[in-house]
Amino acid sequence: MGSEIEDLREQIRYHDYRYYVLDEPEISDFEYDELMRRLRKLEAEHPELVTPDSPTQRVGPPISDQFAPVRHREPMFSLDNIESFEELDAWEARVVRTLEAPPDSYVCELKIDGLAVSLVYEQGSLAVAATRGDGTVGEDITANVRAINPIPLRLLGDAPAVLEVRGEVYMPDAAFEELNRRQSEAGDQLFVNPRNAAAGSLRQKDPAVTASRKLSAWMYQLGTVQGGPVLETHWEALEWLRSLGFPVNPASERVQDLGEVKAYLQTAEDARHAKGYATDGVVIKVNRFEQQQALGFTARAPRWAIAYKFPPEEQVTRLLDIRIGVGRTGRVTPYAMLEPVFVGGAMVSRATLHNEDEVHRKDVRIGDEVIVRRAGEVIPEVIGPIVSRRDGSERVWTMPATCPFCGSRIVKPEGEKVARCTGGLTCPSRLREWLFHFASRSALDIEGLGYKTIDLLIEKGLIRDPADIFFLEPGDLEGLEGWGEVSVANLMTAIAEAKHRPLSKLLIGLGIRHVGGTVARMLARRFCSIDALLAASEEEIAAIEGVGPIIAQSVHAWAQSPETVALIEKLRAAGLQLTEDASGEEDLLAGLRVVLTGRLEGWSREEAKEAIEARGGTVVGSVSKSTSVVVAGDSPGSKLARAQSLGIPVIDAEGFERLLARGPAVLEG
Ligand code: IVH
Repeated sequence: MGSEIEDLREQIRYHDYRYYVLDEPEISDFEYDELMRRLRKLEAEHPELVTPDSPTQRVGPPISDQFAPVRHREPMFSLDNIESFEELDAWEARVVRTLEAPPDSYVCELKIDGLAVSLVYEQGSLAVAATRGDGTVGEDITANVRAINPIPLRLLGDAPAVLEVRGEVYMPDAAFEELNRRQSEAGDQLFVNPRNAAAGSLRQKDPAVTASRKLSAWMYQLGTVQGGPVLETHWEALEWLRSLGFPVNPASERVQDLGEVKAYLQTAEDARHAKGYATDGVVIKVNRFEQQQALGFTARAPRWAIAYKFPPEEQVTRLLDIRIGVGRTGRVTPYAMLEPVFVGGAMVSRATLHNEDEVHRKDVRIGDEVIVRRAGEVIPEVIGPIVSRRDGSERVWTMPATCPFCGSRIVKPEGEKVARCTGGLTCPSRLREWLFHFASRSALDIEGLGYKTIDLLIEKGLIRDPADIFFLEPGDLEGLEGWGEVSVANLMTAIAEAKHRPLSKLLIGLGIRHVGGTVARMLARRFCSIDALLAASEEEIAAIEGVGPIIAQSVHAWAQSPETVALIEKLRAAGLQLTEDASGEEDLLAGLRVVLTGRLEGWSREEAKEAIEARGGTVVGSVSKSTSVVVAGDSPGSKLARAQSLGIPVIDAEGFERLLARGPAVLEG
């Protein structure tokens, strides 16, 4: 019996290793659960055979003294930070000076944004897990660390007598989102970021709570070892740790020189939001232990390693005021006016607060110090207040009863999150946003008609709805500040061209609720003319594949409204094309699989994607053999390198424009 139990444990440990460390499971979840069930059953029948490192023993009972102090066997050092290539060059220059030669290699690792832990294994079994604390003494979190599945309770193969290993416990993005969803449903306080959520999850009295938080870990550093193999480099240490069953990040790389380090930095930053967990930089380590020893430590940090930090995506700043914006559908959105801060690579002075409920749920008050986040291409948002820094002068915000732009009432239907201005197109903010959307590249694409011009045209009373754009005469603009003959002529040309856009573009521009690019194209393809769409029944609209009842109802209600009919008549009188042009544009890129990477001059990611899809192409996330073309903008990162190694055509912004105009023929030759 004992041998069957031990055999089951070994199988389970092996499959944990396949799953968590190699990311190559060999059996289904069902089969795995079967093994666990069988082991649980046998252990229940033979309680005397249960050992603490059995896979069934991860989650123990609540403990009262779990945070007892633990003295580290050797201090847990911190790292010095740099944030530019110049500082990196300077760091390497110091290294080379001390070693009197360049190091023979470096190891580059992702800097995981979690919590440092130290794990001690005795005779192959997890004995003590501790936080970093002040670097000398940490806290005992063994009971909670045992509840983190990727961390082995028992090592694989020949384990040394004593092994200390360091690494980072973190919460994957998906686990973080799920946790906050649960917190929100239960009416509990949300966690501001995965790091805080991981910290809170490690400080639980009940390991079952920790287990429910789906924490994970990457181990990256060897501590004290008694009785292990002879290792000469950090890279060998990582490989050894992996062979013992530890999760070691597969993104780590051994590289030869600083040029390769820099390439790694580029790639890592480019892929920052595609990992599924938060990274805040790259750690560069001199690989050879002998050379590490020669370099030694300062009081705080090793001289043989350095942390290259990415620009921060979260910053603290003061919330000066909360204002509201009214969008093209009348949607009222509160936003924060901030003391300007540099975050996510840009100066930010405004950030969205989403809606009234969010403001109250986060309990953000005017005058608060708040955490602002700007990550990737996502618009900046206020994460939450730092409550401990309040001095009592902060003011609670409430949604105004009337629209600051037009004075109409603001209403929020019972049970809805979104408040709306009731002013219709008499609301200048709403009109302004609608016109901007109408003229944008994804809709009628009227070059030169941005906010500045729109504001001027509204102010002069020249435009009250989108159709008025097409009745503008050169004389309306000439003589206005900033408008000369050439700029007026350019705008007139752009407007004239916009009259011939396909029906789908017009439908996007008209801003029908629930109708984005995809639905607009489906409607245009099905009905071919605006008159046919206006005459369609709700059932006919709902019969289009991919159009659900909510969309059909919204489109039908829009088509029935007298304002819609009047607007369409006005557009017809202006000479707009109200039919779908059968130019074949729709299929120009059919079957093409396009990868976008880097910043594309003049295009947002969304616009580029829409332009490809409007022509029947597909946008895919990663480069593979089946990719047709890679469109590379500025700082393209690893996808470019991969495309080149696979021999896939790469084009720039100009090539992209040509591709959109002329199709895949431009890729040949
Ligand atoms: S090595 C003596 N490697 O960054 C070397 N640290 O700012 C000690 N961290 O306290 C650290 N990822 O919590 C190392 N791949 C990595 C890391 C990493 C994240 C954290 C760690 C450390 C902090 C220093």
